Amino acid sequence: MSTPSVAWLGAGRMGTTMVERLLDQGFEVGVWNRTPDKVRALVERGATQLAEPADARNFDVAWSMILDDRALEALHGPADGLLSQGPGSLLVWVDGSTVSTEAASRAAAAASDAGISYVSAPVSGNPGVVAAGRAIFAVSGPDAGVEAARPVLEALGRATYVVGEQVQANVVKLATNALLAIVMQALAEVAVLGEKAGVSRADLLAFINDSAVGSPFSSYKTKSLVELDFTPTFTTEGQRKDARLALDLAAALESPMPLLSTAEVAFSRTIASGLGAGKDLAAVLLTVARDAGITLEPEM
Ligand SMILES: NC(=O)c1ccc[n+]([C@@H]2O[C@H](COP(=O)([O-])OP(=O)(O)OC[C@H]3O[C@@H](n4cnc5c(N)ncnc54)[C@H](OP(=O)(O)O)[C@@H]3O)[C@@H](O)[C@H]2O)c1
Repeated sequence: MSTPSVAWLGAGRMGTTMVERLLDQGFEVGVWNRTPDKVRALVERGATQLAEPADARNFDVAWSMILDDRALEALHGPADGLLSQGPGSLLVWVDGSTVSTEAASRAAAAASDAGISYVSAPVSGNPGVVAAGRAIFAVSGPDAGVEAARPVLEALGRATYVVGEQVQANVVKLATNALLAIVMQALAEVAVLGEKAGVSRADLLAFINDSAVGSPFSSYKTKSLVELDFTPTFTTEGQRKDARLALDLAAALESPMPLLSTAEVAFSRTIASGLGAGKDLAAVLLTVARDAGITLEPEM
């Protein structure tokens, strides 16, 4: 099977960009979204609109890209959900969202009961990275499901890391995003330290980005930190959700994560204070600056 048809469930920031990539590469894509209006632009680009998740049974691959555990449950839990009318022609259900291992395991069990392979394929890369074809996937699930999903994985990103046959990919994603939360908070702290000591954020980050501790992530976030442009690629709320999922996993396994605990509090303070609610995760900078008693100005 070279070009499977794809039923896409969830047209948020990530889902929309991923569907655009598939349409650009000639895939047949049907799209369902809880808020149907958000599918309109994709229909104009060639997608068909699906009335309900169960319509995915007429496609080869179902791919969900929804917010959280509750949304995943809402997809397959209800009597009229994704799995309610049997597998039809569906070979595999792939979930690319960042969810807990428990939610993924429940979805996998429900899919298995319905005779469908379930594959976890959380993604690393914001919508801009996805659009550029630079996203990577951590993947776990039964071999047959992974192989059925592979043409879609290859069309969507630049690399696929198969890490197990159950929900190990969800663990890999939560660990990666835990690191992201910690690094974001650390970048904010050093940016404010530099500012108080008389170094511009642009100069400091240019040096960090060229040093051994610089990273693609510090480079992506430089514009936000320097220009104070917090248009979200991933929101403070989304990043806190992921930090909490990783902390829940860590608590269940008695694996203390003091740095992540601190970062989770920093995101909560940024959201609760109103400084960064609904903004890009880089807005933790505003909380660090406030705590340091300074008001930042955009550097252009
Ligand atoms: N943005 C990033 O940089 C990034 C990167 C990697 C992974 N992720 C992960 O990708 C997933 C999607 O992120 P996003 O940035 O695309 O989020 P988003 O723009 O907020 O979109 C969320 C999607 O989930 C749907 N949804 C939310 N609650 C639902 C529910 N109860 N039932 C059904 N659908 C529901 C939304 O539908 P409505 O339109 O009806 O609200 C929307 O389609 C998340 O798990 C996120 O952690 C994001």
